[in-house]
Amino acid sequence: MKRKRKKIKKQLWFFLIFFVFLLLGNFCLTRKKTLEKEVLNIICPKELTTELGKAIDLIKNIEYDKNTKIDIHVEGDYDFNRVGEYSLYYVIKDENGNEKKEPFLLKVISYNDADITIGEKPYKTSKGFKIEEIDGVTYIDGTLIVNKTYSLPSTYGNGLTEETKTAFQKLRAAALLDGFDIYIASGFRSYDRQVTLYNNYVQRDGIEGADTYSARPGHSEHQSGLTFDVNEVSDKFHNTPEANWLENNCYKYGFILRFPNGKEKVTGFKYESWHFRYVGEELAKKLFNNGDWITLEEYFGISSVYQN
Ligand code: DAL
Ligand code: ZN
Repeated sequence: MKRKRKKIKKQLWFFLIFFVFLLLGNFCLTRKKTLEKEVLNIICPKELTTELGKAIDLIKNIEYDKNTKIDIHVEGDYDFNRVGEYSLYYVIKDENGNEKKEPFLLKVISYNDADITIGEKPYKTSKGFKIEEIDGVTYIDGTLIVNKTYSLPSTYGNGLTEETKTAFQKLRAAALLDGFDIYIASGFRSYDRQVTLYNNYVQRDGIEGADTYSARPGHSEHQSGLTFDVNEVSDKFHNTPEANWLENNCYKYGFILRFPNGKEKVTGFKYESWHFRYVGEELAKKLFNNGDWITLEEYFGISSVYQN
């Protein structure tokens, strides 16, 4: 009898231990499942954007239960100090070693194209054109660029270039044949001349006012030798037969209307119906765009903003 009781007791213990193990196993299995679910249910952003030089927390926007033990890290190379698009991965691991990889794109953008020159050469504009700086002069896809972002050295320039003069003669001859007299009112302007002009405008209209219509020294296209103002340098020139002829024909001789109407925010300057820039016939035709002028800034994907 005593032996039988002992046997039952033993069996009870056995069942108890078995039951405890069963419970424990079941608990672990459910826990694993839950964690798997947590890993699966995690929501990762597909794309993140930041401005050049502004580091952001790449993990911050991942949605998951913060009470769970999950390890998230980013796989791949990126640089907040370099404009670009970086294809990266979130690697998510739970404590049981369950792993999930989620791809995402990090975009480091810049609104200021001068910033694009940070990083490895060759530098490219936001539209992929090559930027070169030779002796302090910026060329984009081989075209000299001077605007509020890109300047010329104070010593640069000594008159209109031969190419510009020749092209102007052709333009003038063609205009005369059509009955229009186009002449240069202001051609090359040295850095020093621009200092005087700009300072006078600032005296009259203040910096903010002057900056809408006069380039600061070093930032005027007139210093490039590729630019001139024609006939009447004032708003009155707009819509005159000469202005209309130029607007529709200048591209044939390699010139562009540099500051078109309605593009003030892009070029940084007010509409100037009298200011023409030589870029060569091929590019001029593209920018003419059948009468709907594209600016150099839009075409190349560059800005025109003073750095200070
Ligand atoms: N008026 C143009 C913007 C210049 O000063 O060059
Ligand atoms: Zn001008």
